[in-house]
Amino acid sequence: MVRGRSCVVFALLGLMLAAGCGHSTTQRAEPSRTRDAGDRTGDPQPSASTEPGHDPSTSPASQEDEVAPQRPEPEPEPPTAEPPVPPSSRVDCSLRKCVALTFDDGPGAYTGRLLDQLRAAHVHATFFLLGQNVAGHRGLVRRMVEEGHEVGNHSWSHPDLTTLPSWEVRAQVRRTQQAVQDVTGVAPVLFRPPYGAVDGRVADAVGMPLVLWSVDSLDWLHRDVRRNIIVGVRQPRRGGIVLFHDIHRPTVAAVPSVLEGLRERGFTFVTVSELFDGRTLTPGHRYAGR
Ligand code: NI
Repeated sequence: MVRGRSCVVFALLGLMLAAGCGHSTTQRAEPSRTRDAGDRTGDPQPSASTEPGHDPSTSPASQEDEVAPQRPEPEPEPPTAEPPVPPSSRVDCSLRKCVALTFDDGPGAYTGRLLDQLRAAHVHATFFLLGQNVAGHRGLVRRMVEEGHEVGNHSWSHPDLTTLPSWEVRAQVRRTQQAVQDVTGVAPVLFRPPYGAVDGRVADAVGMPLVLWSVDSLDWLHRDVRRNIIVGVRQPRRGGIVLFHDIHRPTVAAVPSVLEGLRERGFTFVTVSELFDGRTLTPGHRYAGR
């Protein structure tokens, strides 16, 4: 009796092993994990220039993709090594006390750490990227989308758009749309004008909904962790949009305390598109909160 059953068990084990080998071969063919992990620390890069005269052609090119093919095969990861990306559960901001945190001018040297903090807190934010910074941080931009954040367009090189001819405004928008689309497969649907500077002509030329803010943290001016925490926790109101910049270290250092303080005040964190979920946003119109 016992011996006969063992034979059946061994035969089954043999079959399972054979099937298992085929499966692991399929998994090893997937290269996606380590590429993102390499970018997580964020290579120190020169800060995104906010000077209108900056020439985007001088931006450092990414070496990340060029070295990728030489990388050794990634070890298959144990299932518990990485916390799963939380499913983006739909939030009804007509019922909940929602706030949208937004981070401008990146990605930069501190963006990887910020993404770690947001993931640890299960918070989704919105990143308004400069197109000229995308090529040097492809892994971070992909990670934003993969981890449920929203990526918006903040122009190519941060000029005051009201000083540019319309064809140049359109080029600033189009180049950034293309850069994000090339890296993530999705094009932004929201635009934030640099300095919030916009007039009717620029609004027409941009041709996307214009997202401003209800709380300006002035983090770029003060560069003070304590001040960022106080402003970030106290000033938001229900349905608000908070402006931060992830290219500044004191901003990123303040984020865990800001998240904790806003949670204590009962806020639910959403992306800008989630904040306006159910409403159709009109190209050229300005939105500063729900
Ligand atoms: Ni900006």
